[in-house]
Amino acid sequence: MTATTERTKYDIKDPSLATQGKQRIDWAGREMPVLRLIQERFAKEKPLAGIRLVACCHVTTETAHLAIALKAAGADGILIASNPLSTQDDVAASLVVDHGIPVFAIKGEDTETYLRHVETALDHRPNIIIDDGSDVVATLVKNRQHQLSDLIGTTEETTTGIVRLRAMLNDGVLTFPAMNVNDADTKHFFDNRYGTGQSTLDGIIRATNILLAGKNIVVAGYGWCGKGCALRARGMGANVIVTEVDPVRAIEAVMDGFRVMPMEQAAAIGDLFITVTGNKHVIRSEHFDVMKDGAMVCNSGHFDIEIDLKSLKEKSTEVKEVRNFTQQYKLQSGKSVIVLGEGRLINLAAAEGHPSAVMDMSFANQALACEYLVKNKGKLEPGMYSIPADVDQEIARLKLKAMGINLDTLTPEQIEYTNSWASGT
Ligand code: ADE
Repeated sequence: MTATTERTKYDIKDPSLATQGKQRIDWAGREMPVLRLIQERFAKEKPLAGIRLVACCHVTTETAHLAIALKAAGADGILIASNPLSTQDDVAASLVVDHGIPVFAIKGEDTETYLRHVETALDHRPNIIIDDGSDVVATLVKNRQHQLSDLIGTTEETTTGIVRLRAMLNDGVLTFPAMNVNDADTKHFFDNRYGTGQSTLDGIIRATNILLAGKNIVVAGYGWCGKGCALRARGMGANVIVTEVDPVRAIEAVMDGFRVMPMEQAAAIGDLFITVTGNKHVIRSEHFDVMKDGAMVCNSGHFDIEIDLKSLKEKSTEVKEVRNFTQQYKLQSGKSVIVLGEGRLINLAAAEGHPSAVMDMSFANQALACEYLVKNKGKLEPGMYSIPADVDQEIARLKLKAMGINLDTLTPEQIEYTNSWASGT
């Protein structure tokens, strides 16, 4: 439902879903103590007062807490989806109805609507952009150079977005500070690994209800997300095969106890394939040709480019929805291949994305990155910036405190030892 008052305030599926959304947002909040502390401080200090902010994120219960914290900080923010299939419509409704936050996101929106929402976000003339995949930032750079003077800086959530920002930097078009949230330790060690690991299997199980024990599961890519998927799949009793292009990561996978081989070989062995490489056509025509009858393929990388669905369609005689988020492609050869979640992020399409406990740290980084940009307005050269180490450490400390876990502290003797070079053997 679209509201058009003095200017369009939201574009969501159904505001009457707000009650359910609120209940689920409250539930997620129980596992987000670090962001709650930040929100409480933001409410007192208003570090983002008067800042026009666009957040392009998966619209989930966890993102709701980020949006609420940013509003508490004084930001004039709007929220759009970072993926056409990841929006939780009840959450979008609650943010609009209960919190007065403009949201432009509908689960299953077509590409045209998705892109229109990106334009709506840019019409807000943001001072700060929180991006997840860099679609808003790339559109700004491509089409709205005249708005760059409004911009204080941007923050980026995910590996794919960081790769795009690096490409912008190399092309000389990154003319503003961009905070690299993904590479903070308290983000990728937990969100990318444990978050993607658990939520990917959650999405696969919700979509298919298959038993993972005893299955041959092929994980394409052994970055942090791939490591998480492989680890958790093994934990569920699967025989995990990893494919990689990077020799160091391949050795890591071998020494972590996985079989490593090219996709060409793995394609004939796998029962279930998970792509998490960030690259395109990792599973393509020649791989479909040798897959077992009934093999399942899904993706947990940011964009829906990792599985070459066009080539699969071309060799299919029929495509049938056999369960929610589960499509059976009948091939001319008589075999079938099952595609989960239309090749989009399976963890957000068929499940609810990463659990709140990890998003707590990811979004603590996002909130503090926005504050950092505003505090340092005009002082940062264009380019990519890491989250300051003391911020990363503080997030970890707050998380441990909330978990009731205490650290050891160095004795004065140990501090002196770590600071000296003179004493050896
Ligand atoms: N990315 C992955 N999981 C997510 C979640 N639960 N909320 C927002 N972004 C996410």
